[in-house]
Amino acid sequence: MKVAVVEGDGIGPEVIPPACRLLEVIRPDIEFFPVEVGYGRWVRSGEAVTDEDISLLASADAILFGAVTTPPDPGYKSVIVRIRKELDLYANIRPVWGEGFDIIVVRENTEGLYSGIEKIEADSACTLRCLTRKGSERIARHACKLAGSRRNLTIGHKANVLKSDVFFRDICIGVAREHLVSFRECYIDSLCLDVLMHPERYDIIVTTNMFGDILSDVTAYLVGGLGLLPSGNIGDGHALFEPVHGSAPDIAGSDTANPIAAMRSAAMLLAFTGDEESSGLIEQAVKNTLACGIRTRDLGGTCGTKDFSKKVCNELIALLKCV
Ligand code: NAI
Ligand code: MG
Repeated sequence: MKVAVVEGDGIGPEVIPPACRLLEVIRPDIEFFPVEVGYGRWVRSGEAVTDEDISLLASADAILFGAVTTPPDPGYKSVIVRIRKELDLYANIRPVWGEGFDIIVVRENTEGLYSGIEKIEADSACTLRCLTRKGSERIARHACKLAGSRRNLTIGHKANVLKSDVFFRDICIGVAREHLVSFRECYIDSLCLDVLMHPERYDIIVTTNMFGDILSDVTAYLVGGLGLLPSGNIGDGHALFEPVHGSAPDIAGSDTANPIAAMRSAAMLLAFTGDEESSGLIEQAVKNTLACGIRTRDLGGTCGTKDFSKKVCNELIALLKCV
């Protein structure tokens, strides 16, 4: 299996190597190759991501991605949004689980407010929120597959204000009925509060691009922060796994970033490629480390990124000896 590795900017180069290390330990057969994209690359070469980079990423069986910093330049287009679009990674899967709840946010990942159709003029600015039947149907189908017959689907939208969300909601309802999935619908703003107050009421939540982006950061509150949440960007031909968090420039270089989100993204990558067992072992190694009371600063601990990563790796090696 060939895995493309993008460390990216900020804390990316601090959290991705330890995640790769776990993959190396558990799956020595994986062939890694680096792809450099992002702000640092843009500063040096004037280009944040090129067509060749996209082709390289497309040649991998799966991609492990850190995060990319968005420069303060209105001409700069988001690197990750471009990669998601060009590889058609239409389903952004963001699981968040804890005591008494197990939620998956399924975010449409290629259209909506992140359509890229926009302009800024002297006295006005406009971003087009484009949704298509094809895009809405396929994300609804993906969510229904995850829901199956056992789990409930919540459709998050703002159809009381946005016509595009009347369109999205109605398509999701149609697909849910077709798949015999039990569903309810909810306005996204009240959903953001209710998911925090009653997380146990939710299973699969499907929503549009920006609402899903916001909702997944909101749900991070349930588990103690962004340092814990992984995600998968899945298409029919490619898949990219990355932490939900960004490049966190405020803590970059300070050895305080929590690498768990990156490690769990690596675990999601393995599960996606069919290796559920190795994926479960990475998850267990993280769990065992936390159970020893070892934590990074964001979770109230004092352990640095490097030491924490070493501890998880040692846990994984110990688990492998028992298998
Ligand atoms: P962020 O997710 O990078 O950081 C938000 C807050 O959470 C910060 O206080 C940060 O220190 C903290 N945090 C994030 N990850 C953490 C970790 N692993 N351990 C401990 N603390 C952590 O979001 P922000 O600040 O809005 O964006 C920073 C940059 O990242 C921006 O340039 C943004 O465009 C970019 N970004 C890139 C993404 C991607 O490449 N997929 C996704 C989100 C943001
Ligand atoms: Mg985000």
